[in-house]
Amino acid sequence: MDTRKQGINTQLVHAGTEHDAFGSVVTPIYQVSTFAFENAQNGADRFSKKAPGYIYTRIGNPTTAALERCVAELEQGVGAVATSSGMGAVMVAYFALLKQGDHMVSTASVYGASRVLMERHFSRFGVTASYVDTSDPKNVTAALRPETRLIYIETPSNPMMQISDIAALATIAHACGALLVVDSTFASPCLQQPLLLGADVSLHSVTKFINGHADLVGGILVAREAAVHDRLRDAMVTTGCNMDPHQAFLVHRGIKTLELRVERAQRNAGKIAPWLEQRPEVAWVRYIGLKSHPQYELAQRQMKGPGSMISFEMKGGLEAGKRLMDRVKLAVLAVSLGGVETLIEHPASMTHAGVGQPEREAAGISDGLVRLSVGIEDADDIIADLDQAFGK
Ligand SMILES: Cc1ncc(COP(=O)(O)O)c(C=O)c1O
Repeated sequence: MDTRKQGINTQLVHAGTEHDAFGSVVTPIYQVSTFAFENAQNGADRFSKKAPGYIYTRIGNPTTAALERCVAELEQGVGAVATSSGMGAVMVAYFALLKQGDHMVSTASVYGASRVLMERHFSRFGVTASYVDTSDPKNVTAALRPETRLIYIETPSNPMMQISDIAALATIAHACGALLVVDSTFASPCLQQPLLLGADVSLHSVTKFINGHADLVGGILVAREAAVHDRLRDAMVTTGCNMDPHQAFLVHRGIKTLELRVERAQRNAGKIAPWLEQRPEVAWVRYIGLKSHPQYELAQRQMKGPGSMISFEMKGGLEAGKRLMDRVKLAVLAVSLGGVETLIEHPASMTHAGVGQPEREAAGISDGLVRLSVGIEDADDIIADLDQAFGK
């Protein structure tokens, strides 16, 4: 059943599932490495794609394929490619879409490892990149070079919640023969559909909202066009960045409640952000749902809701931030985000420690910045926890 025209919750519950010979209500875990051919000719035909059927789990697996169909339908793409981790998805995007001599323009405050992968590793193969504040399309235009082949943005970006205009950047990319990849992890398919705004690829660390239960890492890429999907799949298969069937089963189970979780966490964040904003210990709060957010209007147009990620600056800088993190009792001091539990972390010493301090500062990631991934607990309990952690 294709669910593309149905409501988001119907999609989340049913998309991708095909009932097997036993009538299994959900797609089971096909925990196998290899699939038997009917005969020698059938094996040859599967390899040459003349006959349908699976060959080998790195190339394709029924459990993983069910998840891929589900996310492709949710994001209105032609197909999806599930990967071992979110970084596996970033790796596949760079590997599939860039070659020696190419140039990429990217968001300055992009997830630390996405930047490290480019600057430390792809640079060794002659790929160059410019990091700019992509929330202003003019900065992207100014950074373009004749050899620019990829605009890779993260919106909302981590941890500053900056919003970049997907439609405007898709136009800029296509005008110069480049592709636009959007890391949409912070939004999830519930709050943002990059492909409908013109992006070529939508990328997620499914570790976060899509799976939502802090029990695995995984990634996924969704393509708008078949040719791009083929390049991504080939890169995934040849680099061995495939998602394991057990992982795929858990993600497909987790995604069924995505909208319920996102909506609930967003409601909590909508209470916590204004409360933080009036705390004397807090210098400023960055939350997409607050009018003080610099791209508030753009977010209203581009996203279906502000989500549940909040960053804030402690007036006492790093020491005050550390004290807060050591005192929380309900919020868990851990990196990652988008799970059912509230998490708190310090980007400068944790998620973005691999990025140099000048680059961090240029991207607005100060040493006193604290990031909160609001969970689905009761808002009053999260507020009470932060209140006691702020101390007297
Ligand atoms: C926005 C974003 N993209 C990509 C990644 C990488 O995902 P993973 O940790 O699943 O490899 C992360 C991880 O935190 C992230 O926050």
